[in-house]
Amino acid sequence: MGKRFLVTAGLPYSNGRLHVGHIGGAYLPADIFVRYQRATGADVRFICGSDDNGVAIEISAMQAGVSPQEICTRYHEGQKRDFAGLRIDFDVYGGTHQPHYRETHERFSQAFFTTIYDKGYFTKRTTRQLFDAKANRFLPDRYVKGTCHHCGTPGANGDQCEACGKMIDPLLLKDPISTISGEPAEARETTHWHLKLADFEKPLRDWLESKQDQWRSSVLNFALGQIKQGLPERAMTRDISWGVPVPLDDPEAKGKVLFVWFDAPIGYISFTAQLCHDQGGDAAGYEKWWRDPETKIIHFIGEDNTVFHALIWPAMLMAEGQHQLPDNVVANNFINFRIDGEEAKVSKSKTAAESPVWIEEFLKRYSPDALRYYLTAIAPETSRTAFDFNDFVARNNNELVATFGNFVNRTLQFVAKYLDGNIPEGGGANDADRAHLAAGDAALKRVGELIETHRYRAALEEMMGYARACNQHFGAREPWRLRKEDLADCNAAIATCVRAVQYLAVLCAPFMPSAAERIAQCLGTADAATALKWAAPEPLPAGHALREPQILFERLDA
Ligand code: 2FM
Ligand code: ZN
Repeated sequence: MGKRFLVTAGLPYSNGRLHVGHIGGAYLPADIFVRYQRATGADVRFICGSDDNGVAIEISAMQAGVSPQEICTRYHEGQKRDFAGLRIDFDVYGGTHQPHYRETHERFSQAFFTTIYDKGYFTKRTTRQLFDAKANRFLPDRYVKGTCHHCGTPGANGDQCEACGKMIDPLLLKDPISTISGEPAEARETTHWHLKLADFEKPLRDWLESKQDQWRSSVLNFALGQIKQGLPERAMTRDISWGVPVPLDDPEAKGKVLFVWFDAPIGYISFTAQLCHDQGGDAAGYEKWWRDPETKIIHFIGEDNTVFHALIWPAMLMAEGQHQLPDNVVANNFINFRIDGEEAKVSKSKTAAESPVWIEEFLKRYSPDALRYYLTAIAPETSRTAFDFNDFVARNNNELVATFGNFVNRTLQFVAKYLDGNIPEGGGANDADRAHLAAGDAALKRVGELIETHRYRAALEEMMGYARACNQHFGAREPWRLRKEDLADCNAAIATCVRAVQYLAVLCAPFMPSAAERIAQCLGTADAATALKWAAPEPLPAGHALREPQILFERLDA
C-alpha cells in the first residue's frame, strides 16, 4: 500500500490578519511537504481552518462593537483568501465556529470531553479568580494589570512582568485593574474541570523518547524538560459564553465553555470528518485518517504552540484513547521583521495597515512564488530569523531572476529562436550532458530526503544548487557557438538543457508551484500533475513543439 499522510497546520485565531511570519512558521513548510508527498504518489489530506472560539475572539468583538461571529467570520474569509493567494492549498479550511463546521466540531469536542470525563481524568476544582464586576466577567490573565508582586513595578500584565520578566500570579498582583473596563478587579470563586496531566507523564515520556531520531530536538527537549519538572493540572473549561458548551449535567457547568485550547486541536479531526462528509463519504470516513495506524499524522506549528501539540494534545488523545497520536510535530521558531537593519516585532498595533508584511498587502505587489522562495530560504528551523525586505529583493533578483529564471529563459528562447520552437534530436549527448542529467537525478533524491526529514531550507538550497549547475552547463556548452560550428552537438546540448528545465520544474514545484506550472505550460506538457511527478521526467520527443516562453520571475526594484 502507498504512503498516507494527514497533515495539519496550526489553526490561526480569527481575530487578525495573517503576516509573513505566520506563513513561514507553519503553513508554508506544511504545504511544501504536502506537495512533495503528493508528487511521490502518497495519499494526503491537508487540514486547516480558523480557531474561532475563546476569550481573545470574544474580547476583539467587544472592542469592535460587533458579535464574535461577525469578527471570526470576517477574518476567517480573509485568511482563506490569503492562503489561496499564496497557493497554500488545504483540502479543507474549516473553522471551529463557522456555520458549516460548527455543529460537527461541537459534537466531536463534546464527545472528547465526555469520554475523558467518564474515564476519570478530570478533577473538578473551585478556585479564586479575578472578576470584573462592571463587565460582569471573569478576567483572563492577559486582561489584568497591576503592581508586580516580585519587583513592585506598576502596570505589570497579569501573565508576566515586562520589567523583571517573572511570571505573575494574578491573584498576588497589587491593586489589580481590569483592562476591559478600567475598574478594579476583585477575586471570586469559580469551578472548573482540570485535566490530570500528571497521569500521562510516563506514557508521554515513553512516547517522546521513541521519537528521538525523528523529531526536531528543540521540540523533544522542550517537552521532555516540561515532564521532568512535572505536569500540573490544567483547567479545560472557562467562564465565557463564546465557545463549545461544557457537556456536563452539573449546575456548576452551566454557562461555561471548553477552553479554546481543548477544542482547537479537535478541529483537525472535526474538519477532516466534515471534509469526508462533504466529499460524499459516510460519517465515519474520517476514521481512515485518524484511527488507522497506516496514516501518519503530522502537525506543523509555530514555536509558541509546542506545549499544546507535544504534551497537552497528545495527553488528550491518550486519555480519549480512540485516535492516533501524531507521528511528528514540526515546530518552527518565530520570524522577526527587519527594517533598515532594525529588528521589529510584527505586531498588530505597530505595523501599518498597508505594510506588505501583511499577506493581503504583499500579494497586491509581489508574486506568491517570490515570498514562498524567500520564506523557505530564511526558514526559522533551528532559531529565530528575520524577514528583511532588502534581502528579499536581493535574493529575488540574484537567485530567482538571474540564476533560475535566466537558465529556463535562455534555454527556451534558444529553442524558440533557432529551432522553430521544436525539441531537437537528442542523440549524441556527450559525457558532460550525461553527468548533468545524473546530477538532476541526484538532486531529486537529495531534495526528497531533505523534505521528508523536514529540512526545507537545505532542500531549497539543493534545488538552487541544481539551478546554478544548469546555468553553468549552458554556459560551458556554448550552444550559440555550436549552432554555427556543429549543429548535431548543438542539438544534443539543447536537448539536455530542455530536459534539465524539466528536472527543475519537478524540483521547484513543492516550493514554487506557480513557477513549476508555468514551466510545464511553456514545455507544452498537457498535464502539469503528470509532468511534475517526483521522478526523472520523461524526455520530450524530438519534434515536440514548445509554447511561447514566459517570464518566470519579475525583477524587483529595491
Ligand atoms: O497560536 C494560535 O494561533 C492558535 N490559534 C493555534 C491553535 S492550533 C490548534 F491546536 F488548533
Ligand atoms: Zn516585576
